[in-house]
Amino acid sequence: MSKIQPLLTSYKMGDLLLKNRLVIAPMTRSRANNKENAPTDLHVKYYKQRASAGLIISEGSQISKRAVGYVNTPGIYSEAQVKGWRAVTDAVHKEEGKIFIQLWHVGRVSHPDFHNGELPLAPSALNPNSKSFTPNGFKDTVTPKEMTLEDIKTTVEEFKQAAINAKNAGFDGLEIHSSNGYLFHQFFNNSSNNRTDNYGGSIENRACFFFEVLDEISKVFPQNRVGVRFNPSMHNSHGIDVDQETIPLFEYVIKKLNNYNLAYVHLSEPFTDVSEVKYAIKNIAKHFRPLYNGTLIINSNFDQEKGNNIITNGFADLVAYGKLFISNSDLPERFLKNAPITKCDTKTFYSDTGAKGYTDYANYIEDI
Ligand SMILES: Cc1cc2nc3c(=O)[nH]c(=O)nc-3n(C[C@H](O)[C@H](O)[C@H](O)COP(=O)(O)O)c2cc1C
Repeated sequence: MSKIQPLLTSYKMGDLLLKNRLVIAPMTRSRANNKENAPTDLHVKYYKQRASAGLIISEGSQISKRAVGYVNTPGIYSEAQVKGWRAVTDAVHKEEGKIFIQLWHVGRVSHPDFHNGELPLAPSALNPNSKSFTPNGFKDTVTPKEMTLEDIKTTVEEFKQAAINAKNAGFDGLEIHSSNGYLFHQFFNNSSNNRTDNYGGSIENRACFFFEVLDEISKVFPQNRVGVRFNPSMHNSHGIDVDQETIPLFEYVIKKLNNYNLAYVHLSEPFTDVSEVKYAIKNIAKHFRPLYNGTLIINSNFDQEKGNNIITNGFADLVAYGKLFISNSDLPERFLKNAPITKCDTKTFYSDTGAKGYTDYANYIEDI
């Protein structure tokens, strides 16, 4: 008799029982191609197809008009968007799935083309010298507007309102997108934050905005329905660089999160080779697992074997798969049957191709 794979065992995450330990990593798919940027029937189909995962984390969803930075991404600030998401969560729940929404603010990665010519908001007026995916194609990023204290207050409120909207849309919980070079990461990082007030300078100050948002959101969802995401060794991307204070900042934040009763901390192994990058940590799960007592999700470049191994070795509780879930909506079943894995078509990741490369990947059907 074959041994049950650790990935396919159930897991108690707070008060939720996940049917397996495969999580769908949040993935922008740019299919909210309507005036309202609301989820459509196509989104319903896409998420429903993937409800056999232990937990779905939705694509990044902008918390306000000011938070957007990519075309055709869905929001969670208008009535139409809440209605669209409600249809998604209902469909997932009908299939006995669980779904969290990822709350997103891109900060300085946005572009004036999204904001009638106004500058995007960021902790400091520092251009990431990156590219922005605007309605008019890829454009160079600009020097953003340094957020005033009033802007920060408004943004905290917008996150809180987005959490209220997410609750009304029927989500089981939410993930704060505090990763990948977007607004929270911009506050964390020295290369994007040179503020001299309470939100800049020391590690504690640079983490302050994140904890303010977390505290506000915790008034809407119980903490055990709130997750957070970090990419500590992200380097040379969106103008974010690892320096000597980067890893200590994430150590400080993650240790402090032991005082919260969160659903999970979601970490990414480095997206790029950082073996030559001074101060970067090459093995994120190994480094951070001993620092955090709660549920840890690990992500980035995992396959079936690596996922089972990391759970067996105790470095993570759950494994988030991104690209594999794009082209294998039935991934848990494929792992169960040790079935072949379908490769995804990168051309349809974000494109305006509707169902193509989104909901039209075939399920695995055994020959015998
Ligand atoms: C098409 C695509 C869209 C993505 N969008 C998001 C997103 O909205 N939010 C986020 O935190 N990460 C996003 N990511 C990163 C993934 O969540 C994940 O970290 C990455 O794909 C590595 O995991 P994998 O090797 O299992 O694919 C995206 C990745 C891809 C491929």
